[in-house]
Amino acid sequence: MGSGPALNKRPIVIAHRGASGYLPEHSLAAKALAHGMGADFLEQDIVLSKDGVPVVLHDIHLESTTDVAVRFPKRARGDSSFYAIDFTLEELKTLRLHERGWRDQGGQHSAFYNGRFPPQPGLFQIPTLEEEIALIAGLDKSRQRRTGLYLEFKAPNWHAAQDYDMVRAVLDVLDDAGYLHRPGQLYLQCFDDKTLQRLHHELTSPPPLIQLIAENDWGEDSEVDYDFLRSPQGLEQVATYAQGIGPHIPHIFRGKADDGSALLTDLVPQAHAQGLQVHPYTLRKDELPAGVADFDELLDILLRQAGVDGVFTDFPDLAVQYLDEQQRRDVAP
Ligand code: G3P
Ligand code: CA
Repeated sequence: MGSGPALNKRPIVIAHRGASGYLPEHSLAAKALAHGMGADFLEQDIVLSKDGVPVVLHDIHLESTTDVAVRFPKRARGDSSFYAIDFTLEELKTLRLHERGWRDQGGQHSAFYNGRFPPQPGLFQIPTLEEEIALIAGLDKSRQRRTGLYLEFKAPNWHAAQDYDMVRAVLDVLDDAGYLHRPGQLYLQCFDDKTLQRLHHELTSPPPLIQLIAENDWGEDSEVDYDFLRSPQGLEQVATYAQGIGPHIPHIFRGKADDGSALLTDLVPQAHAQGLQVHPYTLRKDELPAGVADFDELLDILLRQAGVDGVFTDFPDLAVQYLDEQQRRDVAP
């Protein structure tokens, strides 16, 4: 591993939902662990509570990561889902966050990723964005580090359809905490291009904006044609309002050739030609792409061979270790 050209500028490690390979996603514990592991940025997925408070939660629904169905069994909508926006912050705070999974009729929990944190009840709560910022600021002070926020607006169009301006609510929190004028410590990401264009136009000096790229059939909360966005013409358009893209790993790495070499698309060089950074998601040692032997090989393919500028990973310790090791090799005489 690591026998190719030297790495350029050290890529960034983004702790995807915190150190979520080890602790329930978006728990403050997962963020503290990622901070301790040396991640450069900690990711926040944001949705709103009923009273309009930005909370750190991946889904607009609550049932996959909390005990909402036990605590508020009558509060599901007609589609049987429990929506965060139907609960006040006070109510959300009564829920217990757990490892992602699902419960059968008998209440038996099945984990999405076996081998991760057990589904212990009672240990974790949904944090507000404000609380998470306080945690990071505190750890930055006590650990003498500068750890950035990498915040995603989740389903902004869906929130607008419920009569909530989630962008405004989030910007207010970030502004109060001083993050809108703290260069190098904030990225804003979204799957919706209109939301990023709004940020580009409304903010006087916007932080780096990252256009997330999905598959068109995922049903993201957006009218975006992602196949177009990752074409050379689409990337040229993205570069008018964003500083980078967040593609899905298969948009860059297509698998292995018969001789065992990695098949790479042209996305990274084409994005770099437009001046766009590339931060693919999501690197998981317990969910490796077909043909990839181990996590270090995945890191090597993306960071050294494809030349991406950062990675979203559930295992930030392993990415930091890999980069430290590469740096040692690159400077060795
Ligand atoms: O934000 C990058 C990556 O996190 C996008 O996927 O579904 O984990 O938010 P998701
Ligand atoms: Ca995300």
